[in-house]
Amino acid sequence: MSAPPLGSAVLWHWDVSALDPNAPWIVTEEERRLAGAIDGAERRRDHLAARSLVRTALSSCAPVDPLAWRFASGAYGKPRVAAPDCAADLRFNATHSRGLVACVVARGTDVGVDAEDLRRPVPSAGVLARALSPAELGELEASPAALRGLRFFDWWTRKEAYAKAVGAGFTLGFNRFSASDPERDGRCRFTQLVLRPNHLVTVAVLGNDAAVTVHALVPEGASANAAKLGASWLAVGWSPDA
Ligand SMILES: CC(C)(COP(=O)(O)OP(=O)(O)OC[C@H]1O[C@@H](n2cnc3c(N)ncnc32)[C@H](O)[C@@H]1OP(=O)(O)O)[C@@H](O)C(=O)NCCC(=O)NCCS
Repeated sequence: MSAPPLGSAVLWHWDVSALDPNAPWIVTEEERRLAGAIDGAERRRDHLAARSLVRTALSSCAPVDPLAWRFASGAYGKPRVAAPDCAADLRFNATHSRGLVACVVARGTDVGVDAEDLRRPVPSAGVLARALSPAELGELEASPAALRGLRFFDWWTRKEAYAKAVGAGFTLGFNRFSASDPERDGRCRFTQLVLRPNHLVTVAVLGNDAAVTVHALVPEGASANAAKLGASWLAVGWSPDA
């Protein structure tokens, strides 16, 4: 068990697409109760899986029971650790999207993460106008049709990961900046991965010298994937298919 070194981040990701929505999630009674208001078993599953992953990932960094973490929210809803007060200054962010959940944890550095399902169609012109800068809109229009989806989700997940790292979310106004701006200005570093089931995942770490390491969470029984299991996952003694 160890916290990421200062300035670096750890990404945990988990393909929950085949999991039972009623799996024994690592969440408090209050979280379980609030999740009851979410429409759709799969959306509820993804939300509860993300909460479980956050608790597990944080407990892989500090000697705290996963259920003991308490959270508070920033002005625009960004969750942060409120208790227990562990010296590590852990910051985190989570995303969930159609069977994929991911959580990034860092120490002393703000982080954001976004995941989008690459099978989704490119949004309508109205949505694009709110999501992209004029320069991006022009570039997308000039792109070959086969590349438009990937290009859009590349830009979108960068913007959302950055907006989540600073905590402002959509209030940042996604058509007021280009996806490449935060990195070009040295405000953040992006790391991107394509992960199962069908997702593009982008991590934003504020600052410009971040290193991101990646852990996949897989059921303990999946021995073929054992090498990918984080030791810390085993350390908390819970398996998603237990
Ligand atoms: C943060 C935001 C971009 C997330 O959008 P999304 O694509 O639906 O969701 P994702 O799966 O990527 O992320 C959701 C998680 O981000 C985290 N989150 C919530 N608000 C956040 C914020 N302001 N900054 C960073 N992370 C935030 C939470 O962990 C949330 O998980 P939960 O909803 O299960 O509790 C969006 O909700 C937002 O802009 N919120 C702030 C503005 C606001 O208050 N809007 C009101 C609703 S319109």
